[in-house]
Amino acid sequence: MPPLKLEMVDTDMKGLILSGGKGTRLYPLTYTRAKQLIPVANEPVLFRVIRSIRDAGIGEIGIVTGETGAEVQDAVGDGSRWGVKITYIPQDAPKGLAHAVQISRAFLGDDRFVMFLGDNVIQGGISTLIEQFAASDWNAQIVLKEVENPQHFGVAELNADGSIKQLIEKPANPPSNLALVGIYMFDSNIFTAVNAIQPSKRGELEITDAIQWLAVRQYRVHPYVHHGWWIDTGKPTDMLTANEYVLREVPVEILGEVSPDSTIGAGVIVQPGAKIINSIIRGPSIIGENTIVENAYIGANTSIYHDCTIRNCELERCIVLEHSNIENVPQRIADSMIGRRARIGSASRKPVALKMNLGDYGQVWLP
Ligand code: G1P
Repeated sequence: MPPLKLEMVDTDMKGLILSGGKGTRLYPLTYTRAKQLIPVANEPVLFRVIRSIRDAGIGEIGIVTGETGAEVQDAVGDGSRWGVKITYIPQDAPKGLAHAVQISRAFLGDDRFVMFLGDNVIQGGISTLIEQFAASDWNAQIVLKEVENPQHFGVAELNADGSIKQLIEKPANPPSNLALVGIYMFDSNIFTAVNAIQPSKRGELEITDAIQWLAVRQYRVHPYVHHGWWIDTGKPTDMLTANEYVLREVPVEILGEVSPDSTIGAGVIVQPGAKIINSIIRGPSIIGENTIVENAYIGANTSIYHDCTIRNCELERCIVLEHSNIENVPQRIADSMIGRRARIGSASRKPVALKMNLGDYGQVWLP
């Protein structure tokens, strides 16, 4: 996809972000935090989604929330931070993406809109897609991406001329490797479709089925094939990969303090109030506000969020959430996600043993 455009395009479209779901594959982090609020390169994924809709010239955004609605609302507020107006639309149960569209009818009215899943991270922005759709007579536009595991997604089969042959949700035998990315553009015909379909085997009203309903009835559904990276951040490994990609896009700034005995590599971001003392940091990495890194090695692709202390230890390709404390760990910690207010340290008294106070669904791997 073309890079994010900086100038604002004026469209009459609205934005709809889906931010429900339990995030079970990200337990234990998502026991206590909405999955869309987990930061990638120190910015919650949901904030990135809001920014990309805003940058495409859309000022009115609805957010569909579930069980974590209060937390999402608390973190996002009224949208004034981004210069947009946010309306919250509570979904009483996770009944599917097409159900989320149904309950958003009053907010959306008859306007064309972009629906963006709040856990999807995509390279570049969506400005060009929005511009094209706003200027077209298409009834819908979908975004497709070639993937290795299409059975985990909605899948599109195209005709030789590039038009849609069929769309099918999580097929056991995928007819192609083109997955449906969680970014969709619709006009008000989608309401007829979401009201016409039946729940799927998983008991949800699938947006894939609603778009298939439009396509077979000769509505104009335009497929756009995206060639940059795209990640649906369902699992810890997806979060770490998204973190790796996004870190490469964030402008480098050193706003905190770096002691002369520290070495900061290319692509390292040090946020305001952070202190780096006698440490080596390799980029791309980000050190959050008021975090202290002392006598430490921070390898590439690491994001340490705000108010952490990292001392006498080595970290590589990790995401560490706020207020965590990692000190005096003899072995390097790699490929790890560490939640808020976590403590990792070394025992000063015998018996010399691994001691842990591990949350439900926590996971530990020993070398
Ligand atoms: C949903 C859609 C699926 C799409 C995916 C993209 O899947 O149902 O068609 O490919 O988002 O992230 P879910 O996350 O609900 O499993």
